[in-house]
Amino acid sequence: GVDTLMRIPPSVLKRHNKRDDIWMALYGKVYNVTAYMPYHPGGEKELMRVAGRDGTKLFAATHGWVNAEFMLDNCMVGFMVPEPEPDS
Ligand code: HEM
Repeated sequence: GVDTLMRIPPSVLKRHNKRDDIWMALYGKVYNVTAYMPYHPGGEKELMRVAGRDGTKLFAATHGWVNAEFMLDNCMVGFMVPEPEPDS
């Protein structure tokens, strides 16, 4: 449900950049794509290019017509948020 979704800044997204723990942001939503890796028609190497990062631009450039929001619905972990300001 929506209360289990996280607010994820870039520094947290970045920690999930490994083959066996890979998150990516698409259109403001963050997905854990670890389980999807072997099924990506474009291969695992392409997904690794955006591991722990915002993949929106590359995704849109390669296959803007693919409905990733629908395909990855079960893999959604949260929403991108800006990096919090350090305490002063
Ligand atoms: C192909 C899904 C992320 C690169 C495909 C196809 C799907 C898909 C369904 C087949 C499209 C078709 O044949 O019409 C996804 C999903 C993604 C994702 C759900 C998000 C997790 C990416 C990213 C890149 C990428 C970030 C680039 C860095 C490619 C390439 C192909 C492809 C190059 C073409 C492979 C070929 O036709 O030989 N992807 N993709 N994908 N994808 Fe992705």
